[in-house]
Amino acid sequence: MSELRDEIHAVARRYPARRSAVIPALRLAQERYGWLPPEAFREVAAALDLTPAYCKSVASFYDMFHLEPVGAHTVEICTNVSCALVGAQRTLEAFERELGIRAGETTRDGAVSLRTIECAGGCGWGPVVAVDHRYREPVRPEDVPAIVGELRRTTGGA
Ligand code: FES
Repeated sequence: MSELRDEIHAVARRYPARRSAVIPALRLAQERYGWLPPEAFREVAAALDLTPAYCKSVASFYDMFHLEPVGAHTVEICTNVSCALVGAQRTLEAFERELGIRAGETTRDGAVSLRTIECAGGCGWGPVVAVDHRYREPVRPEDVPAIVGELRRTTGGA
């Protein structure tokens, strides 16, 4: 029995029905693989007596699940209305310039993935940027070179 399957079974025991554990199980699989490749869906499905298609349908609904490979670091910029009103687009463009990629892309060296997200729940402190899932707020265009510099120092690239 695989280690991932054991972890999923342990999580599933907290729920009255196995299928209710699908989101935490997908999270465990994503932690294992870094994203959700087909084998991750097969493993989650087998552990929870579901189909891979069902697991993928759940994952595809949620923004936090990656259906494609992502970089070693992720930069996510909220472009929803509150952040948009205080300059999220300019912050996004600053990241695009600094990283040399567009939103939805990963740097050629695989160091950083950049994407936009919907409301991150920090509307009063926008523009909100999540760097490796930790919020930075507010992030102005002039803050971007220092953030990218941090990422470059920890990956030797970007
Ligand atoms: S709109 Fe950006 S955090 Fe809510």
